[in-house]
Amino acid sequence: MSKFEQEFTVASLDFAAAGQASSQIKKLLQLVGYQPLEIRRASIAAYEMEMNMVIHGNGGILRVNLGPAAIELTAQDKGPGIPDIDLAMQEGYSTAPPNIREMGFGAGMGLPNIKRCTDFIEIKSEIGKGTTVRVVINASQQ
Ligand SMILES: Nc1ncnc2c1ncn2[C@@H]1O[C@H](COP(=O)(O)OP(=O)(O)O)[C@@H](O)[C@H]1O
Ligand SMILES: [Mg+2]
Repeated sequence: MSKFEQEFTVASLDFAAAGQASSQIKKLLQLVGYQPLEIRRASIAAYEMEMNMVIHGNGGILRVNLGPAAIELTAQDKGPGIPDIDLAMQEGYSTAPPNIREMGFGAGMGLPNIKRCTDFIEIKSEIGKGTTVRVVINASQQ
């Protein structure tokens, strides 16, 4: 059983690099040997957390903690913050501008998907200071 933490820097609006952090995390999860469904849930959450920092959060840090009974993901940014978290959690709600939507983002399903894929979600946000999203996926190393 290993306990292991790693963090990745996520750059703002860099769509060439976007998705790399969550893809690295997926590889780590496979290496550690979690169950496929757990890897799938955690990878979706990590990807959506990463993209939200790319698109909305001015970039940030994506951290993963691999424990024997849980995968913990934390996305921490110093972006503009989320004024109304309940509203942001609603399916289809997005403030993504037209140029981002043209690239296929901004469906407003990221946060609802993160919630669906995780066993615990905590969002802390302060206007003008930033946002921290922390999630836990119950998991077991094989
Ligand atoms: N890290 C963040 N910083 C600031 N705002 C955010 C962040 N993450 C999400 N939001 C806000 O919550 C909304 C909904 O997020 P999400 O469900 O992922 O949809 P989408 O990313 O497609 O807009 C975003 O449009 C944005 O207004
Ligand atoms: Mg999103």
